[in-house]
Amino acid sequence: MASVEFRGVGKYFEKGVPVLSDISLTVGDGEFLVLVGPSGCGKSTLLRILSGLTEPTSGRVFIGGRDVTDVPPGDRNIAMVFQNYALYPHMTVYDNMAFGLRMRKVPASRIREKVQETADVLGIGTLLKRKPRELSGGQKQRVALGRAMVREPEVFLFDEPLSNLDAGLRVSMRDELTSLHRRLSSTMIFVTHDQSEAMTLGDRIAVLDSGRIQQAAPPLEIYRNPCNTFVAGFIGSPRINFLKGEVRDGVCMTSEGSVPAPGIPEGRCLMGVRPEHVHPDSRGTFRGVVRFLETLGNEVIIHLDTEGDGLRCRCGPDVDAGIGDEMTFSLEPSGCVFFTTDGMRINP
Ligand SMILES: Nc1ncnc2c1ncn2[C@@H]1O[C@H](COP(=O)(O)OP(=O)(O)OP(=O)(O)O)[C@@H](O)[C@H]1O
Ligand SMILES: [Mg+2]
Repeated sequence: MASVEFRGVGKYFEKGVPVLSDISLTVGDGEFLVLVGPSGCGKSTLLRILSGLTEPTSGRVFIGGRDVTDVPPGDRNIAMVFQNYALYPHMTVYDNMAFGLRMRKVPASRIREKVQETADVLGIGTLLKRKPRELSGGQKQRVALGRAMVREPEVFLFDEPLSNLDAGLRVSMRDELTSLHRRLSSTMIFVTHDQSEAMTLGDRIAVLDSGRIQQAAPPLEIYRNPCNTFVAGFIGSPRINFLKGEVRDGVCMTSEGSVPAPGIPEGRCLMGVRPEHVHPDSRGTFRGVVRFLETLGNEVIIHLDTEGDGLRCRCGPDVDAGIGDEMTFSLEPSGCVFFTTDGMRINP
């Protein structure tokens, strides 16, 4: 098993257009790190640099304490599951999965056992004789996962391996990956742009935006204590509310209402509050008019027009609200986080 370290890694393909800037990040031995960020922010590029398929423009990469920056991909003991599967089209599912083991001269009987066992876990045990073109997108994705799993590498890299699966399969594959991680205790880096996948899978989440790590912390820490408005807005669904405010005498006043802001410096700020911390309350000071109701069965998300930029409020299924209703709300002070007007977190 092995830890992974990026030390000051930068990358540009075109001069003057950095794709990654000064990435320094350590992934512990046996840790499950989820790398999350919007499309085009550099996630795949960072994985490719770790696997050796792309050369960094600056910085060094370490696996298990060894500087592997100049080591060829085949000698890094890494298995990568690509975003586009990269299966060998002329080989059967079985041969695709067995390929890496054959290269390492594993005995044929052991290969048979391993491939069958892994294929069964992934629900593709009956497809072993098919060619990739005879598979659905989700099935191809599972073959690509299986091919990595049979190799039992020191480090697994997953580049959005669940993106083509339907909702049910996605959840059961998350479950499968978590138990795989527990069983093998390998180091895993999992890329996704799906924040709910990030929240449920990782020991730790690293949020990447514009080629920079914005924050790396355990999921709940990221959720409760985002370091800037990008992270606050990217993680969490429905999205966090941002209200423009002004702090005076320990109170933050917004055009919707006011909340205590102890220890926050006087002046203009942005206040963030998640929809579950906004409660309908007949004596509340926040006012809004219901614009839209998302009725989800187990809960209702109320979208409100307000004096300011609007509010989203997460309620139980039986909330009494109709479109056009005027409602009042209160905010849980402990759920309010404050940012400077340019988006940096203010710690009281
Ligand atoms: N070989 C290349 N040559 C030039 N530009 C590239 C190359 N590979 C990636 N890029 C650019 O680098 C940026 C980051 O790409 P990357 O594939 O790492 O994004 P990503 O975060 O994986 O996005 P997605 O979620 O869409 O997969 C993009 O703007 C992309 O166009
Ligand atoms: Mg990508």
